[in-house]
Amino acid sequence: MIAGLSQPQKTLSPKFFYDAEGSRLFEAICRLPEYYPTRCELALTRRHLEDVARFAGRGVALVEYGSGASTKTRLLIGALRPRAYVPVDISEAALEGAQRRLAREFPWLPVQGVAGDFMQPLELPVFRARNARRRVVYFPGSTIGNLTPEEAHAFLRMTRAQVGARGAMLVGVDLKKDANVLHAAYNDAKGVTAAFNRNLLARINRELGADFDLRRFAHYAFYNLRRGRIEMHLVSLARQTVAIGRHRFGFDVGESIHTENSCKYSVEEFRALSLRAGFRAERVWLDPRRYFALFGLTAA
Ligand code: AVJ
Repeated sequence: MIAGLSQPQKTLSPKFFYDAEGSRLFEAICRLPEYYPTRCELALTRRHLEDVARFAGRGVALVEYGSGASTKTRLLIGALRPRAYVPVDISEAALEGAQRRLAREFPWLPVQGVAGDFMQPLELPVFRARNARRRVVYFPGSTIGNLTPEEAHAFLRMTRAQVGARGAMLVGVDLKKDANVLHAAYNDAKGVTAAFNRNLLARINRELGADFDLRRFAHYAFYNLRRGRIEMHLVSLARQTVAIGRHRFGFDVGESIHTENSCKYSVEEFRALSLRAGFRAERVWLDPRRYFALFGLTAA
């Protein structure tokens, strides 16, 4: 965080959003009328579930990155009946809640959560997954949009190595669309997205003893057409100095902290990106409005 706030454009990684309160606010975002991605992906997954299950195969080891509440995964688990499920999430609170619910709903399923950052090479438990037919990595929700295309490329390459030549990946990707629809999804009327963004500063105050004055920072989200991404920022409403421990950070009026990118792709753009990383887009499932895509990737 100190390193990110020391850059000319102050930047914080969106992974820091997800303390217990941030994970709760994110679940609330997913229920907002303006936030279409979750509903689109759930609906298209439901609609094509048999086909998705046939693509992934039965009896696999299912690994999920950024599993959160594991809501969409429940559909998949029911259809795939995997040998093992390994949810990976940075929020220990979210992970524990999900594990408890899954144990009740799928008592036959060995679940072993890993609390950590999926961008770092993680030691994944091999427990009982030895007799699994193949490894399938599930990466829904367009979490991949948080990465720049360059980072996404590196991440896909790493995953390609992890699943091996016979493995597969299911990736949810938010698609390019009317900028007004995108804008509304990140500027909801109830201000839940604003609260989610500003919780990052509250968290730094709570955990690092910083003195951010939340009244002096505003939520700002816009669609950057040239880069094909929503950017979220926290904009300083005053000229001010903030202290985190012995570090001091000066803000001009209107100066921002860049807190998130949410990249949007066309089907063709994402297909090309996957291919450069060693994956062939064998299947693409879409919702009727073509707002969201679920890609079925196998080794190219
Ligand atoms: C979880 C990264 C997919 O980019 O849409 C929602 C996070 N940020 N509203 C997204 C988010 C603001 C979300 N992802």
